[in-house]
Amino acid sequence: MSRLVVQKSGPLRGRVQVPGDKSIGHRAILFGSLARGRCHVRGLSHGEDNLSTVACMRAMGVNIELAGDRATIDGVGLRGLSMPSGVLDCGNSGTTMRLLAGLLSAQRFGTRLVGDASLTRRPMGRVVGPLRARGAHIGGSDKDGRPAPTLEKCYPPLSVAPLVEGEQLTGIEYDMPVASAQVKTCLILSGLYASGPTALREPVLSRDHTERMLISLGVPLRTAGSMVYLDPEGLDGAKWDRGWDPFEWEVPGDVSSAAFPIAAALLVEGSEITIEGVGTNPTRTGLLDMLRLIGAPVEQETRDEAAGGEPRADLFVKHVRPRGGLAAGELVVRMIDEVPALCAIAAVSRGTIEIRDAEELRVKESDRIATMAGVLRAFGVSCEELEDGMRIEGGAKLRGATVTSQGDHRIAMSAAVLGLAAEGTTIVEDADCIATSFPTFVPLLKGLGADVRLEES
Ligand code: S3P
Repeated sequence: MSRLVVQKSGPLRGRVQVPGDKSIGHRAILFGSLARGRCHVRGLSHGEDNLSTVACMRAMGVNIELAGDRATIDGVGLRGLSMPSGVLDCGNSGTTMRLLAGLLSAQRFGTRLVGDASLTRRPMGRVVGPLRARGAHIGGSDKDGRPAPTLEKCYPPLSVAPLVEGEQLTGIEYDMPVASAQVKTCLILSGLYASGPTALREPVLSRDHTERMLISLGVPLRTAGSMVYLDPEGLDGAKWDRGWDPFEWEVPGDVSSAAFPIAAALLVEGSEITIEGVGTNPTRTGLLDMLRLIGAPVEQETRDEAAGGEPRADLFVKHVRPRGGLAAGELVVRMIDEVPALCAIAAVSRGTIEIRDAEELRVKESDRIATMAGVLRAFGVSCEELEDGMRIEGGAKLRGATVTSQGDHRIAMSAAVLGLAAEGTTIVEDADCIATSFPTFVPLLKGLGADVRLEES
């Protein structure tokens, strides 16, 4: 196991690129695997989460060649997957498991989806419930590994039994209780194979990469606000043949990874950095909007579009101490993975930063509200944990701390950037997890002038 050793650092300067967007990467691999022929993807992250999706698709007979940040995927078509010889290991990736649950529910072979200790604690009733409602034979496990007695107590591993001859998933109209792109995509993927339409409504629009990418591939899917409608028979009288042609896509940089160098630049006085080619899909830019609201704007210079109609920009960040402010409602949905980075930024604000409506953070790779509150306190920051968020007082003198990531990549990186502005030495135990989303995190920070190193613990 590795740990990060971080010292207070001087101004960070330079131009950097973050790895490809993890969410778009998962989808590019999945949709490429289901295309009718060879697809090319550039800018793919080497993060372990995307590699879990690659491994699962390979196990179902899809040939995927990886070379640097490029992938060549020999798509087998919607009906071309074959039965894997063993369990499908989703590693730490909730996205892999929830998306595959939808795809596999429609197959004529059975599968079992497993994950690591952190993923095994994450709720799966949210996909199992609606999938069963459309006729899928899928079940999860309770915390002791026995068949889950209820949807509330449904966790990985997931078992999917095959649809038998003559069975088909049905259409579904579903009001989603939580905004979740994973649940939405799971139901869209299963809907590609269904006998009738899939109509979904989210309380707030979550990231819409699936919708953009599938529409660009000609899938009969329509959106209006936070509603999605997919009719696998075709829209407006135009029959759909249930498939798509091969594509060439470039994945933009991951704004969720960019959040950490952004936080670092706002924490370390005198910093000025540029992050090139970052995805700026409006369903993902809640942190950038929040920073503008609290007086720490990140300048954006728009570039061309990347994969499937995804906008991207170069981001320019200059150190400034933000004001206090409130993040709540749809803003939080659009920055859900960036909340730990916002917590780190809040530590140096000139007021109180309050985060509400963020209860989903309790069921991420760790309980991010509790873990982040513990990390902030270890650095000398005063904060109040709320059921659905946190209240953080800015302006305390940060002191170096020894903290553990709890195996959560975004907690490890938030602690590391706090360490750059703290007196003395900071140690972040259990830092290997950073590789799930941002394997180049340490060299990137070093390149900007940060005093950070990874060592064996
Ligand atoms: C993701 C959706 C979000 C996000 C996760 C990636 C996706 O999860 O937190 O990191 O790629 O669909 P939820 O769907 O649980 O909100």
